[in-house]
Amino acid sequence: DDPSTMSQRPPVVTIMGHVDHGKTSLLDAIRKSKVVTGEAGGITQHIGAYQVDQDGQKITFIDTPGHAAFSQMRARGAKATDIVILVVAADDGVMPQTKEAIAHAKAAEAPIIIAINKIDKPGADPNRVRTELLSQDLVTESMGGDIIDVEVSAKTGDNLDKLLEMILLQAEVMELQANPERTAEGVVIEAQLDRGRGPVATVLVQKGTLRPGDILVAGAEWGRVRAMLDENGQPVKEAGPAKPVEVLGFQSTPEAGDLVAVVENEARAREITDYRQRQIREKASVVATG
Ligand code: GTP
Ligand code: NA
Ligand code: MG
Repeated sequence: DDPSTMSQRPPVVTIMGHVDHGKTSLLDAIRKSKVVTGEAGGITQHIGAYQVDQDGQKITFIDTPGHAAFSQMRARGAKATDIVILVVAADDGVMPQTKEAIAHAKAAEAPIIIAINKIDKPGADPNRVRTELLSQDLVTESMGGDIIDVEVSAKTGDNLDKLLEMILLQAEVMELQANPERTAEGVVIEAQLDRGRGPVATVLVQKGTLRPGDILVAGAEWGRVRAMLDENGQPVKEAGPAKPVEVLGFQSTPEAGDLVAVVENEARAREITDYRQRQIREKASVVATG
């Protein structure tokens, strides 16, 4: 890309950690603390990705799409995250999936910020967590290292602002840039078939700007963008770099981890996806016949 067309973009932050350590609760708590109170029930539904505004600066959050999907994204060449928030429950400590998450973050070469969660619980022992992290080569600042850790509670909302500040500090160092003017590209964060709306894919735009009417290919599926919605279900007219949107209009449901690209027309979309569908069938028949 021409350097003159590059501009600063928000950081994309993925929340990872052991089962039940509070990843989704933390995301929901951050979202609630940052969303101006709207209609009742308007912000209670879970969504896999959203953007918040912290002192005029945006941050994009992604709930762990499951470790399998995260690996799949990397295998497909998608760099879907800039920063990993590793959630460790203060009453439980480093567990098997905490270690897996650390391995994923390191493989993705994404800096890690530790969120020591559930500090409101009687059994919380943040120092034990820091000690356990040492054996994973994560040396926090209070242990003499440079890994940032923040003690938080998704339940009480303690220190959520501090966590957001740490994310913005890290993002500043990274000087994240993208070209909003080129043809849009991105990655599918999650997708499902909705009874009323048909295939719905949460797409993280990474380059360019996505607009209604665009024809896009995601893996072996394609569609024409009928509508884009934000995390509050509100229509979005333009989605630039680091913006996650729910995309309506796919012919069939793509998969989490699929790379997304806007193409010039329907014929091109069909050509690409026909080819990929054929590849998938051939692979399946090779497996079936041994
Ligand atoms: P999976 O997606 O299933 O891996 O779980 P998760 O990491 O998203 O955890 P989730 O947010 O579902 O929280 C698990 C449980 O911990 C729920 O019962 C939450 O209410 C509880 N929980 C999460 N954060 C906190 C916290 O800060 N304090 C307390 N006391 N409970 C919490
Ligand atoms: Na859970
Ligand atoms: Mg969860």
